[in-house]
Amino acid sequence: MEFRHHHILDISALTPEDISYILETAANLKEILTRPIPKVPTLRGKLVAHLFFEPSTRTRLSFERAAKILSADVFNFTARMSSVEKGETLLDTVLNLKAMGVDLFVIRHSMAGAPHFIAQVAGTRVINAGDGFHAHPTQALLDLLTVKEKKGTLAGLKVAIIGDIRHSRVAHSGICGFKKMGAEVYVSGPATMLPSAREALGAKVCYRLEEALEGADVVMALRVQKERHGKDLFPSLREYARQFGINAERLALAKPDCLLMHPGPVNWGVELHPELENDPRSVILEQVTNGVAVRMALLVLLLGGTA
Ligand code: NCD
Repeated sequence: MEFRHHHILDISALTPEDISYILETAANLKEILTRPIPKVPTLRGKLVAHLFFEPSTRTRLSFERAAKILSADVFNFTARMSSVEKGETLLDTVLNLKAMGVDLFVIRHSMAGAPHFIAQVAGTRVINAGDGFHAHPTQALLDLLTVKEKKGTLAGLKVAIIGDIRHSRVAHSGICGFKKMGAEVYVSGPATMLPSAREALGAKVCYRLEEALEGADVVMALRVQKERHGKDLFPSLREYARQFGINAERLALAKPDCLLMHPGPVNWGVELHPELENDPRSVILEQVTNGVAVRMALLVLLLGGTA
C-alpha cells in the first residue's frame, strides 16, 4: 500500500486502512527495539526537528528515540531558552530551521491548530505531537497498537475513557481512532469535564461511572487537564479521586482480562489508585514502548525510507 499523507495532523484525516497500515509498519519496526544494537540506517541524512512549546516527557523523548534508531539527525528545540523568549514567532522559527535543512517538524503547541498552520505554510512534513486540547494523533495510534497487540483486534471492543474528556486531546484523538477501527467508546467523568452528546465524537457519554466501566475491555484513565481550565471544575483532587479515580474495586466492573491504560503523566492517588501501580492488567509502560514504534513508523512513512 502507498502512504499518501504528507503530514500527521489529526486521526480524523486517516482512513481505517491508513491506520491499519501504520500499525502494521510499527509492529514490524518494533523488532528493531529488541536488537542488541537498535539502530538502522533507514533515515540517514534526514533532519527531524522536535519543536516543543509545551511540557513533555514521553512524547518528546520517544520521538527523539525513534529518529535516532532510524539514524536521522535531530534538532531538539524547546521554546524556553530559544529566541521565542525574544519574541520570535512560531512561523519564523520554523522557516529558519527549514533554512538549515529540516525535513520534518514534530510540533507540540498549546494553540489548537498550530501544527496545521505550519503544515500549510512551511512546505515541509509535519507531525502533530499535541495541539492544545484539540488532537494528539500519535498517542491515539500508540494506544491502538497496544490494544491490537494485546487483544488481537479492535473491532467490537468496549473502550471506557474516564476523566477530563472535554479538555483532553488524548480523548479526542482516542475516541476518533477507536471508533474508526470499530470499537465502542464510552466516556465518563465529572459532568463539568464531559462533552455534550453532540460534541462527543460518537462516544457514549455516561454520567454514571459504572455504566462506562461495566464489561469494558479497555479502561483508560486521563489526567485532569488543570492547565486548560479557566476556573476550578471540581472542588478538590481528593474529591475527584473519591468519585472518579480508578481503584481495584471499580476496575473489577470491567472484564477480568481488561487492559488498564493511561497516556501519562499519571497522578497516582488522583485518577489511578496507587494499589494499581503493579497490577497485571496495566499496560501503561507498554504504551510507552509502543510510542517509540509508532513514531518510527510515521517517520519512515513520511520521509520515504523503506522499512
Ligand atoms: C498527554 C498530553 O500531553 O496530552 N501526555 C502524553 O502526551 N503522553 C496527556 C496529559 O498531559 O495528560
